[in-house]
Amino acid sequence: MTTASHPVTILGTGSYAPERVMTNEDLSQMVDTSDEWITTRTGIRERHIAADGETASDMAVRAARLALDSAGLTADAIDAVIVCTMTPDQPCPATACFVQEKLGLEGKTAFDLTAACSGFIYGLQVASALVHAGTHRHVLLIGAEKLSAIIDWTDRSTCVLFGDGAGAVVLGRGPDHRHGIIGVRTGANGAQAELLHVPGGGCRIPASEQTVRDRLHFLKMNGREVFKHAVRGMEQVARDLLDEHGYVAGDLDLVIPHQANLRIIDTLGSRLEIPPERFFNNLERYGNTSAASIPLALDEAVRAGRVRPGDLILMLAFGAGLTWGASLLRWSGNNQPVPLSEN
Ligand code: COA
Repeated sequence: MTTASHPVTILGTGSYAPERVMTNEDLSQMVDTSDEWITTRTGIRERHIAADGETASDMAVRAARLALDSAGLTADAIDAVIVCTMTPDQPCPATACFVQEKLGLEGKTAFDLTAACSGFIYGLQVASALVHAGTHRHVLLIGAEKLSAIIDWTDRSTCVLFGDGAGAVVLGRGPDHRHGIIGVRTGANGAQAELLHVPGGGCRIPASEQTVRDRLHFLKMNGREVFKHAVRGMEQVARDLLDEHGYVAGDLDLVIPHQANLRIIDTLGSRLEIPPERFFNNLERYGNTSAASIPLALDEAVRAGRVRPGDLILMLAFGAGLTWGASLLRWSGNNQPVPLSEN
């Protein structure tokens, strides 16, 4: 029996990536780049690109249905839908409202959360607080991105990095006292907003013919600076969270970092003294899918049998804002993984 004193836990996971795959070779036909450059600098080999009419909410729904199946729940058990995204279907209303409608969850709480690539960890903090408070029994937390819609496909320094996709989890009270979310930490430094941003389209620089001509609706990034801050930010938040709960890096069974760049992940591993085999990475096949990256990797890790009941898992995120976050959890293993081939 599940009781209100049981920790909040992940009851099920799901993910979705669009059918179309764009390889590094394909990109080298579009901009002045090469498979060798992209692979050695980032670890990325290919990414999925959504179809023209395919939206963040479409991808979110695909991932959400699988998460519900894996939790053994039907949609009517869900009391809230949170979509973490920086590529909403429209500026207004929230993409979560479209997801709610498509899943037939009329009347249930639905809102978006924007924390760029840290969105899923921010979402985990908010969603688990809703369950903890007892106002919402089960929360569907989704990271969904159609980054291909905001990428400047003429800018080789950014277009090689990103991809589209979605990942979802169902959160609820766990089956016992020993498993579930141990803690979540998040932070931000808005003074560094310009290192990674989309300048146009908000109320500061509203959309106009000029903003389109100046390409202000595309993602701009200072890659070198972001790289340094990503390593430092994730290292610090990992150390703080582990300290807070009386763990050391050596206690971890698995780390699921934001899938931005293999060099960032490797540097982080050396600094935290966590061997590479304790990290789960899939960026080689997806690139950086921003808020979708951690739930997509988590779902693949679960379906690949990399996550066992009782495992201590650290999830780490970093992104525009700048924002960062970490979550520590003891895997409860009560979800019902569906093999990847059926996904
Ligand atoms: N193909 C070929 N050459 C490229 C290129 C590409 N796709 N993109 C950039 N270059 C060139 C640059 O023009 C530069 O050339 P120059 O020396 O003649 O000026 C050279 O490669 C080195 O560029 P630099 O930006 O210093 O490379 P880097 O080693 O820092 O790698 C990134 C660039 C973007 C891969 C790296 O900085 C990075 O991953 N940063 C973090 C980005 C990120 O993860 N953002 C999301 C965070 S959530």
